[in-house]
Amino acid sequence: MKKKIAFVTGITGQDGSYLAELLLKKNYVVHGLLRRTSILNVDRIQDIINKYENKGRLILHYIDLTDTSSITNLIIKYKPNEFYNLAAMSHVGISFYTGETTLNINTLSSYRILESILKNHKKCKFYQASSSEMFGSTPPPQNENSQFNPQSPYGISKVSAFYITKYFRQAHGLFAANGILFNHESPRRGLNFVTRKITHSLSRILKGKEKKIYLGDVTTRRDWGHAKDYVYGIWLILQHKKPDDFVLSTGKNYSIQDFVKKVFKLLNLNWKKFVITNTKKYLRPSEVRNLKGDSTKARKILKWKPKYDLNYLCKDMLISDLKLYGMTLNDAKKIAKKYLK
Ligand code: NAP
Ligand code: GDD
Repeated sequence: MKKKIAFVTGITGQDGSYLAELLLKKNYVVHGLLRRTSILNVDRIQDIINKYENKGRLILHYIDLTDTSSITNLIIKYKPNEFYNLAAMSHVGISFYTGETTLNINTLSSYRILESILKNHKKCKFYQASSSEMFGSTPPPQNENSQFNPQSPYGISKVSAFYITKYFRQAHGLFAANGILFNHESPRRGLNFVTRKITHSLSRILKGKEKKIYLGDVTTRRDWGHAKDYVYGIWLILQHKKPDDFVLSTGKNYSIQDFVKKVFKLLNLNWKKFVITNTKKYLRPSEVRNLKGDSTKARKILKWKPKYDLNYLCKDMLISDLKLYGMTLNDAKKIAKKYLK
């Protein structure tokens, strides 16, 4: 049987790397669309490059999301079955300082890709990486019927891309679907997102490389899942018989302070000795205070359900960061007991 072809933008990111692994396991030929960076930036996909690139199962292409023809040429040449649009300026805090780029990359690129699919290869299914950040100040629980009230340029960019995706579906009949994903984390999370910042900085403290962790507002609440569960949901959304929009979430939420406490508890440490909160440079001009998703629709229709809970996630992330600094969890506990009490 002919292998399915998937295009993935953002393949070098957290979700792109897990999704590519999943698709390769499912026997797809995966085309990763990445930008040129001055330092080669393929750490998260190095293992699959080693395993699949020389077999022709993983093919990487340099593209620029503001250069329509760089993407159109690939669509015409390879005629993908599925297009996962994961690339984005994905940091909410930074979007307050880079609003114009955020809109250009996160919003207009979705339009460019969808228009190209419409003109050149209408059969291709399209996935848009929409976000719980779109709900903004709407109180929880948030689901597919909740109002969007974005609080940042990032949130606004994702709301626009959400409607662009819906427009190509409704007006032009494309198979274009949105996954509205609540926060999901993993050992591959970028270092400047709050969860990874906590597990990574704690590992550095144990090595004597840092003394404190400087955070912003730790009273906000997030519905955190594991990225591995969420990329499976992304794939399911494009396998459904008709294009639709789905929330993926765990349905539980915790404050940033709860997350800090859980991680420090793994080493029996008092977090208050090491964490400085309300650091000015990490406070945002406007905040999304409370996200908790209702993913009943995905659970019913797609039979999607997260496997991993927050305790597993904290441990998985901490163990992985400790390993980066040559420690096991037991080593870290001993160091914590001896030097950091
Ligand atoms: P991530 O780790 O920050 O990855 C973002 C990816 O986009 C990276 O591969 C990055 O490339 C690429 N990218 C950024 N700007 C680009 C540009 N101008 N041209 C080409 N590529 C560019 O994000 P993630 O956590 O995997 O999230 C994936 C998608 O889901 C994003 O659209 C995000 O907004 C959305 N989302 C994420 C979550 C979450 O909790 N993780 C929740 C809801 C929605 P480089 O490696 O070169 O930087
Ligand atoms: N990054 C960061 N750094 N956030 C901090 C810090 C800090 O030092 N201190 C407190 N926070 C708070 C933020 O203000 C926010 O309320 C919360 O921690 C979570 O911040 P992030 O981890 O940066 O994630 P996010 O919720 O803003 O955005 C992530 O989730 C969205 C889905 O809801 C990103 O992955 C987005 O791309 C995604 O769409």
